[in-house]
Amino acid sequence: MSIESKIIDSVRLHGPVSYAEFMQLCLYEFEDSYYRKQDPIGFQADFYTSPFLHPIFGSLIGIKLFYMWNALKRPDVFEIVELGAGNGQLSTDILDYAKHISKDFYDAIQYTCVEVRHLSGEIRGSHSDKVHFIGMEELLLCKIHGCVLSNEFFDAIPVHRVCRKNGELFEIKVEWYESGLRETFIKLTDARISKHIEKWDVDIPEGYTVEINLLTESIIDNILGILKEGFILTIDYGDLPQDLYGIASRKNGTLRSFKNNIQVRNILDAPGTQDITCHVNFAILMDRGEKSGFKLEEFISQRQFMMDLGCGIMLSKLDNSEIERTMYVLNKRRIENLLDESGLGGFKVLVQSKCEFPINIPLSEDVFQRLRLPILTTDR
Ligand SMILES: C[S@@+](CC[C@H](N)C(=O)[O-])C[C@H]1O[C@@H](n2cnc3c(N)ncnc32)[C@H](O)[C@@H]1O
Repeated sequence: MSIESKIIDSVRLHGPVSYAEFMQLCLYEFEDSYYRKQDPIGFQADFYTSPFLHPIFGSLIGIKLFYMWNALKRPDVFEIVELGAGNGQLSTDILDYAKHISKDFYDAIQYTCVEVRHLSGEIRGSHSDKVHFIGMEELLLCKIHGCVLSNEFFDAIPVHRVCRKNGELFEIKVEWYESGLRETFIKLTDARISKHIEKWDVDIPEGYTVEINLLTESIIDNILGILKEGFILTIDYGDLPQDLYGIASRKNGTLRSFKNNIQVRNILDAPGTQDITCHVNFAILMDRGEKSGFKLEEFISQRQFMMDLGCGIMLSKLDNSEIERTMYVLNKRRIENLLDESGLGGFKVLVQSKCEFPINIPLSEDVFQRLRLPILTTDR
């Protein structure tokens, strides 16, 4: 039976279902649900992410992790846990560069990828002894000293949708009607959602739709509980509530669906075969972190994050290199894409810490001069 039929059968049997249940069915529930079946990342696939574009992204994160390892006083074992690691590309780029930064640093790293699809055998390069894949349940049994990082993980978590019509709040659900899936508006009765709206100051003016993510809070609480010492580095698209809710440009919410690198108009189309994603409310991560004694280190754009880590120096190395012209253009364009504030460069980077010592002791200019520019030689 196709994934589409499985999802439709489930909605017919149990519907109307919440958007969160619908997303769970589409993305995760079945062995051939979207994220469990395939690697959706790349120009030939459904969407691309920063690690896919250029190894400089992972290399600069590698430098940040090196700062963190130093702040922790260079422990013999430094655990890196990557939530929603996808195809493992970021782990490869980080480890390639960590090896180049410092042998002691590289030797200390143990890298855990948390994924619904386990790819250990497919990890390229020479890091297979350092990297292993586990599921979220297994992670929650661990105690971590190091860094929990993620790129575009929280945006892939199932969300509910709520709108206000004639002054009243409705949950938008998904049902089967005659020959297809459609949305249906049901008066809001789920107390968890009402509580969330109140707690997180979710502004829903008349005619507006918002997404409510009930899972982020418990996921981050679990992570905060198992991270005994170290850092959380979260990269994603999203905002604080004042920029996320109640503004005209987001009147219809931020839930979107992608296929073949194009935004799909109807999210309910072809269920289970296209990505569904939503902006992240970073206030949840910040607030829960603060309540658990984590310090807010920084909340900046991806562009700023990369520039702070020496991307400008890397770009001048590229400009002064003798790299062949087509390769130069490819590398330059890809790095500029990562920095473009109207796209990936506008993503947010949140760093939180539970560490006695300060993290940002910047590398000196001469160390940066020693560090090589990572080059993209072939498309990924
Ligand atoms: C948008 S993709 C990002 C992949 C990768 N981080 C990147 O930047 O290319 C989101 C990933 O999070 C994973 N994910 C979402 N929820 C998860 C969960 N509860 N446990 C493990 N992985 C999860 C998905 O399977 C998917 O691979």
